[in-house]
Amino acid sequence: MPVLPLLVDTDTGSDDAVALLLAAAGGLGDIRAVTTVAGNVPVGTGTRNALISLETAGRTDIPVHPGCARPMTRTLSSAQHIHGEDGMGDIGLPDPSTACRNTHAVDALLSYPREHPGELTLVTLAPLTNIAAALLRDPGLFTRYRHVYCMAGAADLRGNISPTAEFNLWADPEAARIVTQAATPDTVTWIGWDVSRKDAVMTPADQQRLEQLGTPMATFAHRINRTVADWAREVTGLPGYDLPDPVAMAVALKPDLITEQEQAHVAVSVADDTRGQMIIDRRVSAPAPNITLVRRVDETGFKQLLFDTLSTPVPTRSPLTDTAPHVPGTGSGS
Ligand code: BDR
Ligand code: CA
Repeated sequence: MPVLPLLVDTDTGSDDAVALLLAAAGGLGDIRAVTTVAGNVPVGTGTRNALISLETAGRTDIPVHPGCARPMTRTLSSAQHIHGEDGMGDIGLPDPSTACRNTHAVDALLSYPREHPGELTLVTLAPLTNIAAALLRDPGLFTRYRHVYCMAGAADLRGNISPTAEFNLWADPEAARIVTQAATPDTVTWIGWDVSRKDAVMTPADQQRLEQLGTPMATFAHRINRTVADWAREVTGLPGYDLPDPVAMAVALKPDLITEQEQAHVAVSVADDTRGQMIIDRRVSAPAPNITLVRRVDETGFKQLLFDTLSTPVPTRSPLTDTAPHVPGTGSGS
């Protein structure tokens, strides 16, 4: 299978981090750049986490571009109650050895595909603020990418941050609305929280397997998801914690994992009661579809890709064994 050139937009928390490992160390992807945005954590913290994750995968060469510090019109409501104050399970990770770039994420999202038209796949794992800001400057942006995959929404309308909304859409629904208005089913595919809940749950047996692998990447992935595991038990009632961003990344890297999908007309609510909820029109008289929605993936295939990747030894120091003290608030990024 050819290696896929990628741009990844992320609000790096603990599941984004695992998605970055999948793409950076799995042999199917070639990350050309990472852009960061406020979401799970403030953008500076997410940038620090992206650098740490890439370092764990042995990829200190990948540029990381910090982006928007707040949603388009709203104040930032982070998910630190889920992913930990540092977004990475509060396990005291040391600072990365590398620094982020000065070029803003939105400029990076605009310029990379202009330099490589039609070549790059964009994977978004975060509120869509950077992407919407880029679309306002270049309405044809999506046609310049090979394809755009987004971890976004919940096509069965079962929410994780509200009764009916998924976090990435809820955090910046105005941005999501701009994205849906620019999307076509040929250019944009969404992998929602429904897929993660059904086909990407790390059961206690999976968690034990991950812990026992013993490689730096597996230990890192296991430990940073500590607080998410608690939250999943208390809030979602799932038999383990789910991995929304890794399963979205896996679909981008290996689309034959998809077992069920549909094309539909999708809008996003910006109303108070239903903030961030997907409005899916499946009537015969609905407007033309604008988005491809993945509904199910091959769970066994996904977990095989995950465990195979995390079993790989990488030629790098591990942040988990680095003894440098971490002083809160001194991370890279803006
Ligand atoms: C999404 O929200 C974030 O907390 C996760 O990183 C993921 O991108 C899941 O709803
Ligand atoms: Ca995310």
